[in-house]
Amino acid sequence: MFIDTHCHLEDENFFTDRADVLQRAKAAGVEQIINFGSTFQSSVAVSELAKNFPQLFAGVGIHPEEIDDFNADTCNRLAELAASEKVVAVGEIGLDYHWEKDADRRLVQQKVFIAQLDLARQLNLPVCVHDRDAHADTLRILQTEARDLRGVLHCYSGSPETAREVWKLGWLIGVDGPLTFKNSAKLPEVVKAAPRDMLLIETDAPYLAPVPHRGKRNEPAFVVEVAKKLATLRNESVEEVAAYTAANARRLYGI
Ligand code: NI
Repeated sequence: MFIDTHCHLEDENFFTDRADVLQRAKAAGVEQIINFGSTFQSSVAVSELAKNFPQLFAGVGIHPEEIDDFNADTCNRLAELAASEKVVAVGEIGLDYHWEKDADRRLVQQKVFIAQLDLARQLNLPVCVHDRDAHADTLRILQTEARDLRGVLHCYSGSPETAREVWKLGWLIGVDGPLTFKNSAKLPEVVKAAPRDMLLIETDAPYLAPVPHRGKRNEPAFVVEVAKKLATLRNESVEEVAAYTAANARRLYGI
């Protein structure tokens, strides 16, 4: 069986056919799915979905592109959502310098990220981190502010060197559709070097559909394509990849 450890089924792209999407996931062997909020509203939505479907779990948090949504009140309300036993993580939180070029706003992103790492510590929950074009600051914050926390750098896009530093902290990396792209850069090198217990597979649906679905809406069933590519690159069977990535997900998120 497979676990899609990162997606967004609360997204409007799934409003009309979510039941079919869940059915196709099940048919493909994807038995558990973790949806992540990016705003307060979407954090509420993923928590509600998790209550309604046994195979769904949720992470709550404010995404770096949504930092205006974050304040002390939001933080308290995220903690209230996390009281549900189907909420298994704080995320997705982190830094996004791809879309944010302003130095002051980047500092605000860092403050909001660190505040939510504190929230995860208070709630005793693992963390799902978004890092886009902000590898140095993300690693520095993990090394200085998150040594006692557990988590994953989702949709990993950094260098092999950064990955080794992340693994030293005991944090995992999440691998998605880009691994199957022709321009997957250093990612194949990273996953070939990865210890088995440091890898998760994910879709980030509706975004980043893997080949041969590239360009279409992504969905949890397609996580199998990521597993297949990992198996090829690492010279393992798809069954092995499924087994150890699912075990890693269960261990990290307690699902
Ligand atoms: Ni995401």
